[in-house]
Amino acid sequence: MKQVLITGGCGFIGSNFVRHTLEHYKEYRLINLDKLTYAGNPGNLTDIENSPRYRFVKGDICDADLVRKIFAEEKIDAVVHFAAESHVDRSITGPAEFIRTNILGTFTLLEAAREAWLKNGDSTGKEYRFLHVSTDEVYGSLGETGAFQETTPYDPRSPYSASKASSDHLVSAYFHTYGLPTLITNCSNNYGPYQFPEKLIPLVINNALQGKALPVYGDGKNVRDWLYVIDHCEAILTVLHKGKTGETYNIGGNSEKQNIEIVSTICDILDEKVGLLPGEKARRSLVTYVKDRAGHDRRYAIDATKIRTELGWTPQVNFAEGMRKTVEWYLDHQAWIASVTTGAYREYYEKMYGGR
Ligand code: NAD
Ligand code: DAU
Repeated sequence: MKQVLITGGCGFIGSNFVRHTLEHYKEYRLINLDKLTYAGNPGNLTDIENSPRYRFVKGDICDADLVRKIFAEEKIDAVVHFAAESHVDRSITGPAEFIRTNILGTFTLLEAAREAWLKNGDSTGKEYRFLHVSTDEVYGSLGETGAFQETTPYDPRSPYSASKASSDHLVSAYFHTYGLPTLITNCSNNYGPYQFPEKLIPLVINNALQGKALPVYGDGKNVRDWLYVIDHCEAILTVLHKGKTGETYNIGGNSEKQNIEIVSTICDILDEKVGLLPGEKARRSLVTYVKDRAGHDRRYAIDATKIRTELGWTPQVNFAEGMRKTVEWYLDHQAWIASVTTGAYREYYEKMYGGR
């Protein structure tokens, strides 16, 4: 049995990864270290919390003593590092926590892995892996054409992407300087179950269900490359199993959409599934253009040739199917939405969007 330390396993991608891996990869035991910030919810994993191949530890990745203790106690073979402050808008209004968690937290994990796997000597002959989950946002913003490749120079533009870029550089430095067996993945926008409703897709689903305004930043024509979350989880597992240490792999859905297309698609699926709003109003009428995000990256697109040709990964869920599944999931889990949109969320929402 391999012992894998998962960080941030109670968040959106982390909880999907934990559930998917426990179900499909019986050779793993997962130790989930999560601080349970506003974005982390133990309720995301109630269905698997009693699995003998799962342990939850509530704690901070910046707590060096705790992280060291976990490596010693659990004899960790691999790390899959998701924990981060992940929302661009929050990084604009409060960057400090992004610097702490995303940079110092990653550094703390790297040091613990170095100590456990390299510094103290190791005669087990095991093959260790430190997989750092990162983002396409480190590459900056594209014009009308082109796509990010692994060789594209870093050009982060928000405190969030700058903190992720810093953490990527640290991971890479630990490979070159100490020979730590690292892997980096840079993925495009994910969507699917359990995404916190501060992000575009779940926020729009939630508001559209309630007949509230759908805030679209700027002209609504910014482009993101969308990937269903389970496809991302499978890509991470592929890199964990077959990736070459020291390498970076871009992951994307080959599914570029303007934000306004995303919002319109959600409105149409909901109109069809739950009926029009009172007065026979289509949900598209709720679209409200609001002030643009500061430094808003115009377009992201991923060239995933490397992971496809070298490791054999391709996305399995197309956008239309993925969006339908996602909207259905939120419709079936309205109690989940209610449980994560309580006081602190309402305060955040009020500050971001005012009375809309
Ligand atoms: P999320 O915000 O939903 O979850 C983050 C999780 O990390 C939460 O459970 C939170 O409690 C935990 N966490 C935060 N700070 C912590 C700390 N100091 N110590 C321990 N745990 C802490 O994020 P997500 O959307 O699931 O993203 C996961 C990772 O994937 C991030 O590193 C993000 O940069 C990366 N990523 C996300 C996307 C996307 O579209 N969501 C795309 C590419 C890459
Ligand atoms: O590209 C990968 C990144 O995708 C991840 O690294 C981040 O963690 C993740 O949050 C996501 O970042 P984005 O900023 O692209 O995602 P978000 O859902 O916040 O916004 C998607 C687009 O929609 C973006 O162009 C901003 C716009 N938007 C967002 C919100 C919340 C709106 O127009 N209105 C909104 O209310």
